Amino acid sequence: MANNAEKNPGLLLFGAAFLVIIGVIGTIALPYFDEGITTPTETAKLKNYPADSAEARGRHVYIREGCQYCHSQSVRPVRADSKLGQPSLPGDYYYDAPVLVMTQRTGPDLTWVGQRYSADWQHAHLLNPQEIGGAGSIMPKYDYLSQQDRDDLVAYLLSLKPALKTKD
Ligand code: HEC
Repeated sequence: MANNAEKNPGLLLFGAAFLVIIGVIGTIALPYFDEGITTPTETAKLKNYPADSAEARGRHVYIREGCQYCHSQSVRPVRADSKLGQPSLPGDYYYDAPVLVMTQRTGPDLTWVGQRYSADWQHAHLLNPQEIGGAGSIMPKYDYLSQQDRDDLVAYLLSLKPALKTKD
């Protein structure tokens, strides 16, 4: 029949455009009205590093060295993640650019790693993950980093902790 929808290009185009618009509204426009996303949490404020701080420089080292390809920074609200600490909130990422959520967990999630270890531990681990993190660790040694880069990186790692601690 000539009036079938699939044979009517005008109606098909209208239908496709309508669905795209619904998608754009739902995934791009509506989130702007979600206060959970548009309001920085106390944790986000902690991570709003001044441009010349050790933490900001350390974050650059983290990205440059590709730590994010093995480590996520997102605690999911599921039982498997309950030992990591409180689940991440959208507002925690307010000042993150680029966001380092990632999905790969070849190594442990680092969202709250700042509350798990000392600076000395972090330095020793970066220099020799196999000695500190376990003989089977596939994490590369970062002993080639300059002292400055390693100091900055550790400052960044130590800053990864919740502003309001709700769980040990
Ligand atoms: C090839 C994958 C890989 C890369 C790249 C990598 N890691 Fe790891 N990382 C691991 C694995 C596996 C572990 C667990 C074993 C261990 O502790 O060494 C780990 C453990 C860690 C831990 C301890 C986490 C915990 O809760 O015990 C920290 C901190 C860490 N990595 C930081 C980094 C940083 C910083 C970088 C980049 C400079 C990096 N990693 C790059 C795989 C990786």
